[in-house]
Amino acid sequence: MLPVGSCENGTMPELRYDLPVRPRRNRRNAAIRGLMRETELSPAHLILPLFVTGGEDVRIPIGAMPGCFRLSVDHTVALARQAWELGVRALALFPALPDSVKDPRATESLNPNGLLQRTVRALKDALPDLVVITDVAMDPYSSDGHDGYLEDGQIINDVSLEILASMAVSQAQAGADYVAPSDMMDGRVGVLREALDEEGFTNTGILAYSAKYASSFYGPFREALDSAPRSGDKKTYQMDPANRREALREVLLDVAEGADIVMVKPAMPYLDVVAEVSAHVDVPVAAYQVSGEFAMIKAASQNGWLSEEAAVDESLIAIRRAGADMILTYFAMDYARRYRG
Ligand code: PBG
Repeated sequence: MLPVGSCENGTMPELRYDLPVRPRRNRRNAAIRGLMRETELSPAHLILPLFVTGGEDVRIPIGAMPGCFRLSVDHTVALARQAWELGVRALALFPALPDSVKDPRATESLNPNGLLQRTVRALKDALPDLVVITDVAMDPYSSDGHDGYLEDGQIINDVSLEILASMAVSQAQAGADYVAPSDMMDGRVGVLREALDEEGFTNTGILAYSAKYASSFYGPFREALDSAPRSGDKKTYQMDPANRREALREVLLDVAEGADIVMVKPAMPYLDVVAEVSAHVDVPVAAYQVSGEFAMIKAASQNGWLSEEAAVDESLIAIRRAGADMILTYFAMDYARRYRG
């Protein structure tokens, strides 16, 4: 770098150094930046998670998730129509159930007329091509608030698998396009695939929560579903936030067992994991911007500490850039509303 100008007479020459490489040339205006953009995010990449509740015309706000509600089936269908019109064509459903129907074996999850099953049917009747994704885990239905079956303080893997497989079949019967095991039991993807195929649901896909971490960022979600574990924590099945190599092990097992899509969760604190996973698999990769990530952006922007729209756009494009093909986000409709091709 040679200095080619001087400031001796008080004028500042525009060119002071002979820099042959100036990356700023490619950022001069919005049109140029548009040409250079490496990552795109459209509403077609987004999946909206929704909390459903019983009754009719019910809309219960969720304290730690401003703008999110537990919705009765009628409101869920209405919102799904709006989402569809905005280009968000996939939903992930989570049922919020009263304690009175919860038990240790999550029996309610198999009820063909249960809340989730009724919601799936209503959605598919209203919008046949809507991609309906259902969660396979015991926690919304379990009096213990765990994702697997609890006995004497232990989560029993293989008993859980039987329950989860029946749950997945029940969801497929209701019309789910993808069942999404979020339970982190060993071997669940293979067991689910076999159970679905045996019942003839060869077209029902499996979106596996493959690298799901034992994260503090699920707090608001557990409030929304009142699904926090009644005892202990989830660290014997969800992953240690310190581990990256282990994520690959989990993901590769799920792919071998037949997962159609693998997922990393949460998203932003685990972008290195998203990148690692997407570099190593040949199936699509999803990432879940979870309730705590949503709540952080909301809270900071409500305080005037962040610009919500800019923070949402940046967080979502960062998740895509890291390697996610699709993103579950509570901001899906907000993003879609202001999306301009
Ligand atoms: C549980 C489940 C959780 C989430 C999705 N499925 C919470 C948990 O594992 O305790 C969290 C999603 C979010 O925080 O947005 N099966």
